[in-house]
Amino acid sequence: MDEPIGKMESHNKVPRGFLVLLFGLIAFGIYYIAAYTPGISGWSQYKALEKEEAADKAKAAAAGKMIENPYEHDEKYEAEGKVLYIGKCAGCHGKDLKGGDGPSLIGHLKYGEEDGPKYESIAKGRPGGMHAFEPELGRDRIWKVLAYVDSVREYGKKP
Ligand code: HEC
Repeated sequence: MDEPIGKMESHNKVPRGFLVLLFGLIAFGIYYIAAYTPGISGWSQYKALEKEEAADKAKAAAAGKMIENPYEHDEKYEAEGKVLYIGKCAGCHGKDLKGGDGPSLIGHLKYGEEDGPKYESIAKGRPGGMHAFEPELGRDRIWKVLAYVDSVREYGKKP
């Protein structure tokens, strides 16, 4: 017990595991700071978010759940859609879209006025007498018909 303090400590070696942990944590800390500091690595939470959103969108599109009409506001597709509308829809919804045997497509739509539900109405049908057009028209032409319908109902074009 009369050994000087320094000497007593000298035969207490730091366990190797502690050293590994210590330096490991320091290395991890440096890596972490470097990796997540925009000025160093270019990483940014905004970019990360953008990437995630882009991935989600691609996934949704691949799963056929794209919920925005890719043909909206395009006159060429609206014209193609009009031909389809006259041939397939006007008999029930009217040449002016104001209804007939089917309800008016101008104004309030009971199944929803977003692109998603409107697409669903046409693609999958609705119980009150609207049959599913997906087998006959396919995605592409449904979006074209809808581009035409919306050019009239939402953007005030002449039917
Ligand atoms: C045989 C008649 C008929 C034809 C043809 C038809 N529909 Fe319909 N459609 C209906 C009926 C009836 C409803 C109402 C269904 C309900 O209320 O459940 C409807 C509902 C809809 C709705 C939902 C309306 C709402 O209030 O939410 C949309 C959108 C629609 N039709 C678009 C079309 C388009 C586009 C076409 C052509 C590709 C078409 N329909 C062809 C009869 C028809």
